[in-house]
Amino acid sequence: MTDRIPLVSDTDPGIDDALAVLLALASPEVDLQLVTTVHGNVELAQTTENALRVLHLAGRSDVPVAVGAAGPLVHPLPERAGHVHGAAGMGGVELEPSPAAVDPRPAVVALAELLMAHEPGTVTVAPIGPLTNLALLLAVFPEAATRIGRVVWMGGSAARGGNVTPAAEFNAWADPEAAHAVLTSPLPVTMVGLDVTLPTVLTEPGIERFRTHGGRVGATAAAVLQQYLDAARDSYGISGVCVHDALALTEAIVPGTLGTTRRDVVVGTTLGAARGQTLTDLRAVSTADTAVEVADGVDSDAAVEFLVSRLESYGA
Ligand code: RIB
Ligand code: CA
Repeated sequence: MTDRIPLVSDTDPGIDDALAVLLALASPEVDLQLVTTVHGNVELAQTTENALRVLHLAGRSDVPVAVGAAGPLVHPLPERAGHVHGAAGMGGVELEPSPAAVDPRPAVVALAELLMAHEPGTVTVAPIGPLTNLALLLAVFPEAATRIGRVVWMGGSAARGGNVTPAAEFNAWADPEAAHAVLTSPLPVTMVGLDVTLPTVLTEPGIERFRTHGGRVGATAAAVLQQYLDAARDSYGISGVCVHDALALTEAIVPGTLGTTRRDVVVGTTLGAARGQTLTDLRAVSTADTAVEVADGVDSDAAVEFLVSRLESYGA
């Protein structure tokens, strides 16, 4: 086994966030060394509690959880996503409380210290919520930010429109100013957007596999998904769930899983209908050092099988 990739997940759990974190913990290719929490699907206090409980569910309450931003950089969020993830963010399922407390350091400090302690270019940061924390890291600890090896972000949409508005994907929309700052920075960002997450649908047979073979973790993950299934049926008319965040973590765990093209991306930061839109220049492959690797190719069946098989491994 080659060296494990040091991994940080910046997350707003959130049902698909929970699956993504469980996937990372079941993947020997990566070493999840820090979880940072951010506002997003639900309020920060809840995303933080959920992160603690998901780690505890997997028997990994040793992984530090550092609390990040409670809201976007500039304009308040008009709404969150409790109607999709449940008021408490876990699909109405009460996970067992964790015995662990949060890390005493703010998220950006914990992340900066971790980055300064690793060789430059070795750490993968996987934001699977709004980019508020990463934008703050860029502003407060730029020298640490330059040491990031990869940013693998679930967010945005190059050519698939939006999910929270016709123009915007939720994570970009929840903090467009932060998304613009990160996506126009020299950080090596891979954008795993709706272009590849919407076609990647986890259907009920896959959920049944880890419900029955994944032990207590798999059964709990399946229970948490039930509300997400109902929301997907109501919103998209599909009998499955788009595992947005888990696909981003799959790319972080196995680099190159997704096809990507270097594109220039800017984010709509007006207060109008285009707020949060990730305006992606599809006219040309970008040579700019601020370009983003925009995910535009996916083997959805293989990605779903990867997720299901790893979640099943909790029952081994
Ligand atoms: O648009 C999907 C994203 O928004 C996912 O990260 C989901 O958890 C929500 O935060
Ligand atoms: Ca998320």
